[in-house]
Amino acid sequence: MIQDRFSRPIRDLRISVTDKCNFRCPYCMPIEIFGEDYQYSPKSDVLTFEEIERLAGLFARCGAEKIRLTGGEPLLRRDLPILVKMLAAIPGIKDIALTTNAWFLPQHAVKLKAAGLCRVTVSLDSLDDQVFQKMNGRGYGVARVLEGIDAAIAAGLMPIKVNVVVKRGDNDHTLLDLVRRFKGSGVIPRFIEYMDVGNRNQWRLDHVVPSREIVAAIDAEMPLEPVDPAYRGEVAARYRFRDGSGEIGVISSITQPFCGDCTRGRLSTDGKLVTCLFATGGTDLRTPLRDGATDDALIEIIASAWSARTDRYSEERAARPPEASRKIEMYQIGG
Ligand code: GTP
Ligand code: 5AD
Ligand code: SF4
Ligand code: SF4
Repeated sequence: MIQDRFSRPIRDLRISVTDKCNFRCPYCMPIEIFGEDYQYSPKSDVLTFEEIERLAGLFARCGAEKIRLTGGEPLLRRDLPILVKMLAAIPGIKDIALTTNAWFLPQHAVKLKAAGLCRVTVSLDSLDDQVFQKMNGRGYGVARVLEGIDAAIAAGLMPIKVNVVVKRGDNDHTLLDLVRRFKGSGVIPRFIEYMDVGNRNQWRLDHVVPSREIVAAIDAEMPLEPVDPAYRGEVAARYRFRDGSGEIGVISSITQPFCGDCTRGRLSTDGKLVTCLFATGGTDLRTPLRDGATDDALIEIIASAWSARTDRYSEERAARPPEASRKIEMYQIGG
C-alpha cells in the first residue's frame, strides 16, 4: 500500500480513454479553440486497451479499488465494453463507473452493464433546452440525454448521478427545475461549483455560485437534511429530502475544498499519471511500458510519483496568484 506525503493512499483511478468529445462545453472545450479542424491526439499516443488493463492492474496492486472511466467523452472510444470487461476482471477492483454526456448511452447501456460496468454519472447542466444548447456549445437538445439516462436506468446502471456544473448567470436559474424532475426517480443530481480547471475557460470567482446558496434554495422548497458521506473522502457532500424521496449532492471545490482526503489518481489518455486535477504535468508511464519495463519496475515508478505527492491545489487556491503555471486540460484527464 503506497501513501503520499500527507498519508493519503491511492484508492480511485480515473482513466481518460479518449480526448475526443462531441460536445463543446465552453468551460472545457470552447468551440473557438476546438473547431472542426482541431487535431486530437494521434492514435499512437493513446494507450491501447491492453496497456490500460496492465496499468490498472498495477494500480490495483498499489491500493486502487475504484475505477472511473472518463474522457473527453468515453463513449467515443470504440469497443469500450471490451475494456470494461478487462478491467472488471482485475482482482481488487470493486467498482467501475463511467462519466459521460450520455449522447451515445441509449445504444451502449445494455452492453456496458453486461461487460461489468456498475454505474454511470451523466453530465447535464440544465433541462432548459436553450440553456443546455449554449452550455454544450453544439446546440444539442436535452431530450436525447434524458433518453440516455432512461436507458441507463433500464439497464440497471444504478445509482445514476447527474453532474450539473453551475455557472452564475448561465444556468443557475434552472437548478430547481432539475431537482424537481429527478426527485423520486432514484437519479441523484449533483451541483458542481464552477472550477478553474485548465487554461481556457476564463474562470472568475464571480462565476461561482457557492454550494450553500444552492442547498438553501432547494431546502426552501424541498426540505433537506445532511447525510454522512458514503465513503471517506467522498467528493460530493450529500443531502436527502426529508420526505424520503431521494437525495442530492454538492461538490464544493471552491468554497469547501476536500484535498485532505483526496485519494484520486488520474491516468491521462496518453499514459501519464496525474496526481491532481489542477496539475501542470504528470509522470510518463507509457514510455517505460512500451520500452518493456517489468511490472515491478512500473510499480516502482508509480510508487515514487505517488509517495512524492503533496497536491492540495483547491486548498491553496485562495493564496495562489491567478497566473499559476499551465495546467492540464479537463478533456485530457476527464475531471
Ligand atoms: P463517485 O463519488 O464515485 O460517484 O464519483 P465522483 O464524484 O468522484 O466523480 P465525478 O466524475 O462524478 O466527479 C464529479 C465532479 O467532481 C467532477 O466535476 C470532477 O471534476 C470533480 N472532481 C472529482 N474529483 C475531484 C478532485 O479530486 N478534485 C476536485 N477539485 N474536483 C474533483
Ligand atoms: N468546473 C466544474 N466542473 C467541470 N466539469 C468540466 N469542466 C468543469 C469546470 N470548469 C465537469 C463536467 C463533468 C465532470 C467530469 O466535470 O461537466 O460532469
Ligand atoms: Fe465534453 Fe465533458 Fe468537456 Fe463537455 S465537459 S466538452 S461533455 S469532455
Ligand atoms: Fe485532489 Fe487536487 Fe482536487 Fe485537491 S485539488 S481534491 S488534491 S485533485
